[in-house]
Amino acid sequence: MRSAFKDGYLKGKVAFIAGASSGINLGIAQRLAEAGAKVAILSRSAEKIAAAAKTITDAGYEAIGIAADVRDYAAVDAALAQTVETFGKIDIVVSGAAGNFVAPALGMSANGFKTVIDIDLMGTFHVLRASFQHLNRPGASLISITAPQGSRPSLYQAHVCAAKAGINMLTQCLAMEWGPAGVRVNAISPGPIADTEGMARLAPTADAEARVKSRIALRGYGEKLDIAEAVIYLSSESGRYITGTIMNVDGGSELGDAGGDAIPEAFKV
Ligand code: NAP
Ligand code: COA
Repeated sequence: MRSAFKDGYLKGKVAFIAGASSGINLGIAQRLAEAGAKVAILSRSAEKIAAAAKTITDAGYEAIGIAADVRDYAAVDAALAQTVETFGKIDIVVSGAAGNFVAPALGMSANGFKTVIDIDLMGTFHVLRASFQHLNRPGASLISITAPQGSRPSLYQAHVCAAKAGINMLTQCLAMEWGPAGVRVNAISPGPIADTEGMARLAPTADAEARVKSRIALRGYGEKLDIAEAVIYLSSESGRYITGTIMNVDGGSELGDAGGDAIPEAFKV
């Protein structure tokens, strides 16, 4: 295993991860479990979340899957209560549920725009707001999964850009409000991550994938483990003095277009 953290590093911790039936967030849940945390994972589909939890319990770790929609505050609140009932407490919360589709603003109904705002931004507010009562103590860590769209305008992503920018600001506001209680609030901004629904939607063809890779400073997609490692760092003792950070784990995406085909031969490194 390529990891800076020993298995057992998070022994005794309980993590709640929203939007974890697949992709990056399931990768986070699986890695946190390997690192010793008990994990509760949530998504809309009862079938998908049960199957995801089974991948963790089949590997010999403790996990429960809870079906709930992050757009429903009461359902999120109940899921957190169920987690505390099952595992006794919550130390780490990851809010990562999201929806995305590629469309120009003029090809998006008001409800289409609102749907992404409701899942990403309102969902994150619900998860963080409802978590505080369970994590109101020094050492607690809340992490949202944002995206490069939160700080860089992107074509055909008006809904996601608006939602993720909101998540970035929410992260910083809550870090200020909750810091005096010792509660840390951070966000991770993944760049393009291999084998995810997000990239299947944003770069659906081999050509599109090659174009994305050619424009990133580190020239390639990241792996789910890259994001899970950042979660362990931020949510453990290693990250005890970090709050209000939007941590880019993105191969340099945040820097902007790093060349593509436009780099003259003589300037190549
Ligand atoms: P994904 O596999 O589709 O993950 C999205 C998760 O959210 C799924 O588990 C989905 O499960 C859940 N979900 C969606 N709507 C929900 C709702 N209303 N309530 C509760 N759960 C809901 O996508 P991914 O590509 O791994 O993305 C994961 C996160 O990383 C997202 O926050 C995304 O914005 C961020 N991100 C991804 C990339 C990338 O390269 N993929 C890059 C930057 C940021 P159900 O369908 O079962 O509800
Ligand atoms: N282009 C334009 N509008 C679209 C669209 C598209 N490709 N896909 C959905 N919409 C619109 C719908 O038309 C609808 O608006 P309307 O009522 O005015 O017609 C609105 O969005 C809601 O669609 P619906 O399918 O009812 O939403 P949902 O809550 O069932 O699903 C989505 C949410 C649309 C975000 C869906 O893609 C999803 O569940 N995504 C989760 C997985 C994902 O996106 N993973 C990547 C994460 S980065």
